[in-house]
Amino acid sequence: MTLDPVATLMLDEAGDLGARVLVLDEPSLANHLRSAGHDVVAVCDDLLEERRLDGDPARLDEQALAGVEVVLLRLPKSLGMLEDYAQRIAAWGGPQVRVVAGGREKHLTRGMNDVLASSFADVHASRGRQKSRVLHAAGARPGPRTWPRTTRVDWLALTVVSHGGVFASGRLDAGTRLLISALGQARTGRAVDLGCGTGLVASWLARRGDQVLAVDTSLAACASARDTAAANGLTVAVQRADSLTGVAARSVDLVACNPPFHVGTTKDSTPGFDLLRTAVPALAPGGELWTVFNSHLPYLPFLRAEVGDTTVAARDPHYIVTRSVRS
Ligand SMILES: C[S@@+](CC[C@H](N)C(=O)[O-])C[C@H]1O[C@@H](n2cnc3c(N)ncnc32)[C@H](O)[C@@H]1O
Repeated sequence: MTLDPVATLMLDEAGDLGARVLVLDEPSLANHLRSAGHDVVAVCDDLLEERRLDGDPARLDEQALAGVEVVLLRLPKSLGMLEDYAQRIAAWGGPQVRVVAGGREKHLTRGMNDVLASSFADVHASRGRQKSRVLHAAGARPGPRTWPRTTRVDWLALTVVSHGGVFASGRLDAGTRLLISALGQARTGRAVDLGCGTGLVASWLARRGDQVLAVDTSLAACASARDTAAANGLTVAVQRADSLTGVAARSVDLVACNPPFHVGTTKDSTPGFDLLRTAVPALAPGGELWTVFNSHLPYLPFLRAEVGDTTVAARDPHYIVTRSVRS
């Protein structure tokens, strides 16, 4: 099993891993250490990464951190997620816990040091190697947890709860706003918020009376969507799942989706297309797929070719909202 330069550097920098090591968002490293006989607790926010684990996954909670001396962590691109992780590790890891957090140099920011320094007394960076670097953090300073965060979105008259790392944390994304502004024209009934993030779309659909399923691969997103629905007194079923492949064929009247446009730190529409493609078999006859995308992206031909009759339901200078009816 080959490790990438970041994981290799993390391992080299970590030194003695102690009796039990926690590996966060780094499935290859978790598998590598397990195969070398280490007692590994492995946690992945993303379900697709979690599926790459050879052993059982865990959650980043008090039980997972019991007896752990070293946390090997792949630096997330979201500072909110790093902060949430750092606060949990400092709270539950005990005074001995050390964090070795690795990333590509081009993705490292000063803010990452600052976030770690708010939960650990001693934070320093390693020397770079093969365009990679690690941040070391030790001397846990447990403090109040500042995640999840609760915000009021007046425009929707909804409360949004955001766990660290969720898309559009604490706010309404401009694309989502345009999507919701058009969804009043959408078919009602059994609805799915596909790639739900904080679950604002799901809660909006539930409030108008739809029977709603919210789906996302991210633990932070699913926790946020669950808490957002609860904060608004609404019923939303939340499933951590990859796309709509697990949903019964022809069982859904409406799919609403603000698709992902990144793979890690790179802009890429492919996962968005893949995600929308999985919605098609799930749609009942006459079922509608509503989506929003950046005006310059080639979604219209894709939707017309792969979903069915597609019309533009709303647009602004940046985004287009479309309604596609399953053909
Ligand atoms: C652009 S965000 C939209 C979030 C939310 N719907 C909103 O509008 O604020 C896309 C979401 O899709 C999720 N996602 C990406 N790939 C997915 C997949 N294969 N299955 C389910 N969700 C996915 C991401 O985790 C992310 O939360």
